[in-house]
Amino acid sequence: MSESFISLQKEVQCCIACPLSQTRKNVVFGMGVETAEVLFIGEAPGAQEDDQGLPFVGRSGQLLDKLLSCIDLYRDKNIYIANIIKCRPPENRDPLPEEQSACAKHLARQIEYINPKIIVCVGRIAAKRFIGEDFKVTTEHGKWFEQNGRLVMGTFHPAALLRNPNLKPVAFDDCLLLRDKINEICTHTY
Ligand code: URA
Repeated sequence: MSESFISLQKEVQCCIACPLSQTRKNVVFGMGVETAEVLFIGEAPGAQEDDQGLPFVGRSGQLLDKLLSCIDLYRDKNIYIANIIKCRPPENRDPLPEEQSACAKHLARQIEYINPKIIVCVGRIAAKRFIGEDFKVTTEHGKWFEQNGRLVMGTFHPAALLRNPNLKPVAFDDCLLLRDKINEICTHTY
């Protein structure tokens, strides 16, 4: 990691901008390749992420990794994974709008450093925050939106796929659309 990304991470580790800082075990900053052309943004850490300080390491994360491996994407090789919220909301409740706002500056700086060409919002909450409040994951998943020169897509959260396995082929189709877009616009070797 470059010095500036490390210093951003150190700064975020000490954040006390919202009350979630009082109940967290660990700040979950994100993980992956700092120069990735594809950035995944989830919702918020759960219990296992809070324990380990790493994003998407529970059951949802295992499913996400499995889906992404089908299109040759790996967090240790060619993508970065972060969340809208860096600290676990108690009982895994949805992050409150004020918590999302308090954390927004961290994500914005992460995006600036990574400078991805493609952002994938994993789940409804991330897509609403990032693409727009009116975003409907059931009808708008897999569609591309342009934002500040980047292409942004929303797709189903793996927790939704675990609850409703019928959605898995639909989410896989979104992965194929992502693969096509990577082949079209990304320059690194994938
Ligand atoms: N769900 C998320 O949205 N993010 C995580 O890091 C883990 C589960």
